[in-house]
Amino acid sequence: MKKIEDLSDLNKKKVLLRLDLNVPLKDSKITDTTRIDKILPTLKYLIEKKSQIIIISHIGRPNGRIDSKLSMLPVCEYLSAKLKIEVKLINKKIFDINPSSFLKNDCSKIFFLENIRFYEQEERNDEEFAKKLSSFGEIFVNDAFSCSHRKHASVDKITKFLPSYCGIQMNAEVSALKKVTTDIKKPIACIIGGSKISTKISVIKNLIPKFDNIIIVGAMANNIIKYKGFSIGNSIIENNCNSIVEEIFLLAKKNKCEIIFPKDVAVGKKLNDKAKIKDLPDIEDDDLILDIGPKTISLIKSILENSKTVLWNGPAGYFENSNFAIGSEEIAKKIVSLGNKIYSVAGGGDTIAVINRINAFKKLDFVSTAGGAFLEYLEGKEIPGIRALKS
Ligand code: 3PG
Repeated sequence: MKKIEDLSDLNKKKVLLRLDLNVPLKDSKITDTTRIDKILPTLKYLIEKKSQIIIISHIGRPNGRIDSKLSMLPVCEYLSAKLKIEVKLINKKIFDINPSSFLKNDCSKIFFLENIRFYEQEERNDEEFAKKLSSFGEIFVNDAFSCSHRKHASVDKITKFLPSYCGIQMNAEVSALKKVTTDIKKPIACIIGGSKISTKISVIKNLIPKFDNIIIVGAMANNIIKYKGFSIGNSIIENNCNSIVEEIFLLAKKNKCEIIFPKDVAVGKKLNDKAKIKDLPDIEDDDLILDIGPKTISLIKSILENSKTVLWNGPAGYFENSNFAIGSEEIAKKIVSLGNKIYSVAGGGDTIAVINRINAFKKLDFVSTAGGAFLEYLEGKEIPGIRALKS
């Protein structure tokens, strides 16, 4: 991919910049600014280069209809306060905008197009729409890895009409993901959790041939505990998944990858209970498995000590109750304590929540705020936004 930093003549160029500022909103107030804060370096870089910035982004899934609750206005206001520069929201319909309204020599403000998903042409990857968008800029920069798995007009088709580059954040994200998929420093371990094993099976299958250890935790480990012949009491489980578990163990054996699952667990009788540590044979009918136990935590720590790379996606337990957050927090603390002895990549909303709890967001090598795109990359799928920048 051609990188924005490789361009020497950004000065006064009109840069059409695709960002993913799909932030959570409550009553038009942003409740988590992580995604905006992450792309500030890109904007500062372009401001420094005196480029004329025109931002394209989306919030939510308005399905091609205008929804004032999903306006980009709160994002514009936040950006304006952070960058101390006017960020002007363009409300006019895309096809009514005159490209000359974006003056070539005006870098005193940033232009921000209203939610691009207010147009049904966006998700249809419509060629005319992409062409119209492209008329606003001289170059296109995609700094939105987290929506690059969508074959949408402002991600994919637009690259047909403008010289296209990859942004600073997109490049950082892809470089980090390469280190856990193609340019691996071994030994490498993956800690994978979450509630449904079926949603992670493609990731696990894609990683097994490359990984030394795959540690399965969280509610999805219940499928393995049960498959191994232990009772899981009243714990949640995804039904009809034995064939998936069988497939995982068969593939792992073939590829000499170790599959690790909890040896002991923390249980409660209800979600807001205190934790009781149990070995697997001692789980009672009314127990809920809500975290991994101390033996499992020690095992994970020793695997991490012997690894050079770790990928973490999904918490180890029901971390919303702090009594069951110990497994997840101990994993996070251990990764942080290993410092530069291990290269660490983490991703997923719940994993980020755990990492933030112990203020470790900046202490891991890379924390991905991409949801679907992160998983699809790990599944080995082609990411349309990346392919478009390459072609
Ligand atoms: C995300 O939040 O993962 C991206 O903005 C993509 O959103 P989508 O899943 O609605 O396409």
